[in-house]
Order: sequence, then C-alpha cells, then structure tokens
Amino acid sequence: MIPKEVIEEIRYRCDIEDVIGTYVSLKRAGSNRHGLCPFHSEKSPSFTVFPATKSFYCFGCGAGGDVITFVQKIENLDYVGAVESLATRAGIAIPNNDTLGGTPTVSRKRIYEMNLEAAKFFRSALFDPVLGAEGMKYLVENRRLSGATIKRFGLGFAPNDFGMLTMHLKKCGFSESELIAGFLSKKSQRGTLFDLFRNRIMFPVIDTSGNIVAFGGRVMDDSKPKYLNSSDTPGFKKSRVLFGLNYAKEHCAEELILCEGYMDTIAMHAAGFGNAVATLGTAITSDHARLIARYTKRVIINYDSDDAGQRAADKAMQLLDEVGVPVRVLKLEGAKDADEFIKKFGVDAFRNLLKGSSTAFDFKMDKILAKYNVATAEGKIRAAREVTTLIASTYSGVERELYLAAASERLGISAEGLANDVKRARAKQAREARQKESRELQLSARNFGDRVNPDAAKDPAAAAAEEVVLGLCLLYPEHRRLCAGGQVALNAEDFFTDFGRRVFSAMMKAEKSENGFYFSALGEEFSPDEMGRLVRLQQDRQALQNNGKEVLIDAARALRDRRRAREAGAGGLEGALAARRAMMNKKNDETEKGRT
Ligand code: CTP
Ligand code: MN
Repeated sequence: MIPKEVIEEIRYRCDIEDVIGTYVSLKRAGSNRHGLCPFHSEKSPSFTVFPATKSFYCFGCGAGGDVITFVQKIENLDYVGAVESLATRAGIAIPNNDTLGGTPTVSRKRIYEMNLEAAKFFRSALFDPVLGAEGMKYLVENRRLSGATIKRFGLGFAPNDFGMLTMHLKKCGFSESELIAGFLSKKSQRGTLFDLFRNRIMFPVIDTSGNIVAFGGRVMDDSKPKYLNSSDTPGFKKSRVLFGLNYAKEHCAEELILCEGYMDTIAMHAAGFGNAVATLGTAITSDHARLIARYTKRVIINYDSDDAGQRAADKAMQLLDEVGVPVRVLKLEGAKDADEFIKKFGVDAFRNLLKGSSTAFDFKMDKILAKYNVATAEGKIRAAREVTTLIASTYSGVERELYLAAASERLGISAEGLANDVKRARAKQAREARQKESRELQLSARNFGDRVNPDAAKDPAAAAAEEVVLGLCLLYPEHRRLCAGGQVALNAEDFFTDFGRRVFSAMMKAEKSENGFYFSALGEEFSPDEMGRLVRLQQDRQALQNNGKEVLIDAARALRDRRRAREAGAGGLEGALAARRAMMNKKNDETEKGRT
C-alpha cells in the first residue's frame, strides 16, 4: 500500500492538464480541455480533461479516470507502476515498504535491481575465458558480432550450472521470493532453488527508462526451446515492451523498423540501422502499436519471410493503421530474416531493400494478384472485386485516386470501370457501418455488451438508480456521509449489479476509514476501464442541476424497492419456476444415468 499522503501529494503536484498535455495536444473548451483521444483513433476530439475534478473522459471510447489512470493506460503500467512513475516526475520519494499486487515482499524496484545484478553476472561469465568460451565463440564466429555490439547490447552468458546465479544473487541480498518472482530461479521438488537460465546466450530486455525488465536466453545449437524468455513478472509484460527501443528511441523519430527477433534487431543496429526494434516472440499487440505511435512517424515492417511472419505483418499493418501510423512493408527475398539477409547480401543491399519497401497498399495488392490468374477473365474479375473493396476502404480521396490508377494498370482494366465499382463498394461499406452503429446504439441503450457492468442489462431500472447513487456519492462528500452514517439507509446488498456493489462497498469502507475517501485510491482496486466508468458517472451527475439530498433518497428507495421485489420474486412465481426447473434438470440427469 502506498500511503494516502503520497498519492495526494502526487495528485497535487502532477497537474492532470500538464501530464496529459505532454501526450495529447489540448485545446481550451470552456473550463475544460479537448483533444484527440490517445486511446482510440478519431478525427474529431471527444477526449476531455476536467481540471476542476482532476479527471479525464473520452466520450468516444469511454476511457476515463484521474491522472494516475491516465498514466496507467498510456504507459501501460499497473496502478503502483503509474504512481511510481508520477512520483519520479514530481520528485516525490515513495516510502520503501511498497509492495506489488499479490506478492507482498517483491517490489518492482527490487526486481530491476536484481536484473541489473544478474546482467552483470551474465556479462562477466561471457567475458570469462573459461566459463564463457563457448558462448563467446558462438557470438563471434557463428553470429559474427563485434565486441562493441556485444557490449552495447549487454549480451551475456548463463553458465551451464544449476546454482551459480542463484547463489550470487542471494549473496547480493536478494530473497528467494524475489528470485522466483523475477523469473531467474525456480524451486525444485526438493525445495531448493535452481537457475532457470543455463547454458544460454543472454539478451537483456531494457525498457525506455533504462530498466532491465526481462531476459531472453538462446541455446547455441538446435535444441529446444530455442529461446527461453522471462515470463511476465512484476516489472514486465511482454505485450508492452519492444526490444531495442531503449536504443532506437534516439534514432526513430522519422521512421522505425519493426522486426521479429533479438538477433534481427542487433544485426540491424550493427549494420547502422539504429532505428530497429522487435516484438518479443509474440504477435504485435495494440499496446505495442500505441507505444510505437509515440516514438515515430512511420514504420517499416520487416518480418520473417515465412507464412507466420507474413500473417504477423498483416496484423501489424492493421494495428498500426488503427493508431494512425503509416507503414511500408519490406519483402525479404533469398533470406529468412533481416539478420540472414545482411550477412548474405551485405549492408548496401539491405539499404536498397529499405528504399524499395512497398506501401501497405502495394503489399496487399501483390497478395491479391498472386492469388488469382489474372490472364483469365474469371481471375481478373475476382481480383478486381477484392481490389475495389481494398481501395474503397481507404479513407483519403487522393490516395484512392492514386490506387485506382495503379490498380487499373496492373489489372488491365479501365480506371473508370474500377472507379464505378469502388463507388458502389464505398456506398455499401457506409451503409453497413451505419447499420452496425445503429445496432450498437440500440444495444448500448439497453446496456447490452457493457463489459464494465454486464449485469446492468438484466434490470436497467435498478442499474439506473445505482448510477445515480454512485455518481452522487463520488461527487459529494455530504452524500457519502449520509450513506456511511446510515441517515440514508443503503447497504451494498441493495445494489443489483456486482459492479455497483463493489464500488459502493469500497467507497463506504474508505469513508469510514481513518484516511477517509479519495477517488485515486479506487485505482488500486478497480481497473482503468472501471475507473473510466466512475468518471462518467460523476460527469453525468455534474451535468444535472438537481443533485440534492432528495435525489439521493429517492434513488436509494428505488434500490431498496427493487431488492425487495427481487427477493419476493424469488419466493413467489419466479422462485416456484426456478424450483421447478431445478427439479426437471435433476430428473433428466437421472434418466441419463439410467441409460448408461
Ligand atoms: N522466440 C521465442 N521463443 C522461441 C522462438 C522464438 O521467444 N522458441 C522469439 C524470440 O524473441 C526470437 C523471435 O521470436 O528472437 C523470432 O524467432 P526466430 O525467427 O525463430 O528467431 P531469430 O530471432 O531469427 O533467432 P536466430 O536468428 O537466433 O535463430
Ligand atoms: Mn534469425
């Protein structure tokens, strides 16, 4: 638990407008600020910062919360991580007894310290003429890395031994639970710890703040698994880190090369392409895409030439498109990956390849053309059909015009003919989008598909009353006091939805505690999406004139009434039906059993 004073201090010193302003360009709109939402792609601003309540909310995607929630979402951190990051920014020291979710003795800071110590150990082992001989030989001879590159990337070697690292780290003062949580040691069945990485080349994974967050370890032959990677640990989520970005961030403002592997990244940096980064053996995620969008203007996708690599490239194109980053795609021929290509054909050939990378459109077009035999009328028609759909989904009119010309030439069909089909396809896509939107609107009006509060759909009236109570209590201390003091009779059990119940309990518990209630503390227990909903509930209430005691009392009464009706129902007709259904099921079960 981080003490309340510290969190309050952070909220006070880290002005929400300043913090968000470093990520989003904000414009004044009355007493609030508007901007384009960093959490979904949009063309007109629905992202709003409310300085008065120190909160933000996006009317487009529902993201919302306070300054801590914002940092959690944009930096992909958990609650404690976001608090730590803001504390650093504001120069506030967090007392050292902080702990991380579920593992009371392990802090993120300690994991980073431990990883640094481990990296030093691996490096000394690699450079040790006896211990590291085989590893060094592999890196220099097989992978042809220079000493400078090996040092720059902090490569190391895990000795072929079950206990050297564990023993070393223990000597440095790290506890068994820290070693296990950090994925460096594991407990054997006999209860002793042993090293997880053995006889492997070690690649430290470093985040953009310079922390060593994980390791990848490669075997030096063909044994399996080729790579062993740290599992997600308190300091590390694979889906949120890009290997090499700590170096590439200085060189990728214009363009970034995205590849698949440790060795590809290193080979590219060594060849002078310092703007290369890799996803760590996982498919690219939307978190990665957002991270990339913060560091660069354009991406060149440089995935392996096999099928899996090409499928991953499709996914990357889609996700980067969603965050508004234009991509080009590199086509590797005669080599499996960038590392191999550079070794085989040299740096200049690779530079030419980069220059000749195709746009996402050409890449997709090539794929369509490869699928059909366009020498036949039949093949041409089918290819044209796919190409028109592709062009139709392009937002910019200028781009559509250019693509039409290119497609016309490659298919040997007149641009006018294609343009007509594109027009029709666009009309159809627009129609479908409208239908989808109105369907979604109808559903959301009935609370269907509400992931934050899925129960709400089952009794919209009860859910609405809950929202009134929660919104009022979040906004006004006097309303909270009325509930906590019992002047307004309301229990968590009166709430119909699980979400409502949880929020109300948490709020009441805090209100009655020594520290009292403060909104940020909820971030520890509730997810960023849930925090977003809580901000919306407050904003909804704030927009209304009448937020007095009577409103609270009415809503509380409605909740109690609904609860009574539910409970009576359970004993009455509903109850009778449920009992009958249970009996029928039991009978069916018995007949089933009788048959077997
Ligand atoms: N990877 C992994 N576990 C595996 C295989 C791969 O985590 N068993 C990840 C690694 O991050 C690796 C990336 O996926 O760098 C790409 O895999 P692959 O193309 O097989 O490896 P290369 O990077 O080409 O490695 P090398 O050149 O050393 O064979
Ligand atoms: Mn490779």
